[in-house]
Amino acid sequence: MADLNNAAEVPAVQCPCCASYVELDPERAQCSCGFEFRWRGRVIDLETGPDSFYEGRYANEVYFDKRRLERPGGRLLLHFLVYGYYEAILRSVPAGGRILDIGCAGGSKLLAEWGRVTGLDLSLPTLETAASKYAWGVRANACRVEFAPASFLAIVSCFFWEHMRPPDKDLLLEKFSRWLRPGGKVVFLFDVASANPFFTWTRKDPDLFREAFIEHDGHYGLEPASAALRRFAEHGFSVCRWHAMIRSPVQDLPVLGWLEPYGRKHRWAQAVSRAGKWISNHRIPNRLYTGSLQLFDDTLGRLLPLDWSRILLVVLEKPA
Ligand SMILES: C[S@@+](CC[C@H](N)C(=O)[O-])C[C@H]1O[C@@H](n2cnc3c(N)ncnc32)[C@H](O)[C@@H]1O
Ligand SMILES: [Zn+2]
Repeated sequence: MADLNNAAEVPAVQCPCCASYVELDPERAQCSCGFEFRWRGRVIDLETGPDSFYEGRYANEVYFDKRRLERPGGRLLLHFLVYGYYEAILRSVPAGGRILDIGCAGGSKLLAEWGRVTGLDLSLPTLETAASKYAWGVRANACRVEFAPASFLAIVSCFFWEHMRPPDKDLLLEKFSRWLRPGGKVVFLFDVASANPFFTWTRKDPDLFREAFIEHDGHYGLEPASAALRRFAEHGFSVCRWHAMIRSPVQDLPVLGWLEPYGRKHRWAQAVSRAGKWISNHRIPNRLYTGSLQLFDDTLGRLLPLDWSRILLVVLEKPA
C-alpha cells in the first residue's frame, strides 16, 4: 500500500464510513463501501459545514516563487521571507516529494513548485485559492482526517500550531508519525508563550491579555518554546534545528497591532499600536523594521533566554 500510495499524485485518505484507505481523483469519488466523497473543484470536503471561527478568516497567499528566488538577491530575500520558514523548508526537504501543508490558507507558490503539495485547512474559500496552486486541497479538521501511513516526505505549517490545544497537539504528533515516511521532516513556524518583560507586563491584566493575544486569533495552544521542544522530543521526533525569535521586548508588527485593546487603558499602548499599523502599511518602513528585528534575532537575540521568544521555527525528523 505504501509504495502504491506514494506513486499517486495525491495520498489516500481514510473513508469516514468503513476506515479503509481510498485513492481519490475527481473522477473517482466513491469508496468501495459506497461512501461518496464530496469534491468541490480540486478540494475534497470532509466537513459537514463552515467552521464558525475559521471559515474565510485567513486569506493569506505567499506569492514569492522560484523565478524570484533565482533572481539576484533571491536567496537573501528568502532568508527574510516569513521569519526564514521557507528557507528552512528548502534546506531540509528534498524537492519533488509529497508535502502536507496544514492550515495552508491561500497557500504558497514556492511550496507548490518545490513538491506535490496537499493543502489542508478548515476553511473552504481560502483552500480553493490554495488548491489552484497545490496538487489538491482537503477541507477537514486536522485532528479528524486520516491519511494512509507513510504518505508524506514532509509536513509543514506556518502559524497553525499555536491554534491547537495541548491534547490535540499530542494527537496530531501521533498522526504525523504515521503519515511521514521514515526520515521525513516536520517544519513548523508558530507563536509561543513568551515570558519576556513586555509579555510579563501584558499578562498583568489577564482579561485584556486573553482578548488581545488569545481570543483575537484563536491562539489557545500557546506554550513556552522549551515546552514545545520537549513535546516534540517526547513524541519521538529528533529536533534537527530550531530558531527561537523575537526574544527582546521590542516586538514585531503583528504584536503591535494586537496591542490595540490595551489602548483603552494606556495611552502609550494606543500610540504604539497606531505606529505599528502605520509601519505595517508602508512597504519600506515595514521591511526596515522587520529586517532589523530578524538581524537582531540572528545575532544578539540568541543570547536572550529561550522562553523570552515569541516565535519558534523547528525542523524535526521522524527517525528512520
Ligand atoms: C493563522 S492561519 C495561518 C495561515 C497560513 N498558513 C499563513 O501562514 O498565513 C491558521 C490556519 O489554520 C487553519 N486551521 C485552524 N485550525 C485548524 C484545524 N483544526 N484543522 C485544519 N486547519 C485549521 C485556519 O483555517 C487558518 O487558515
Ligand atoms: Zn468506505
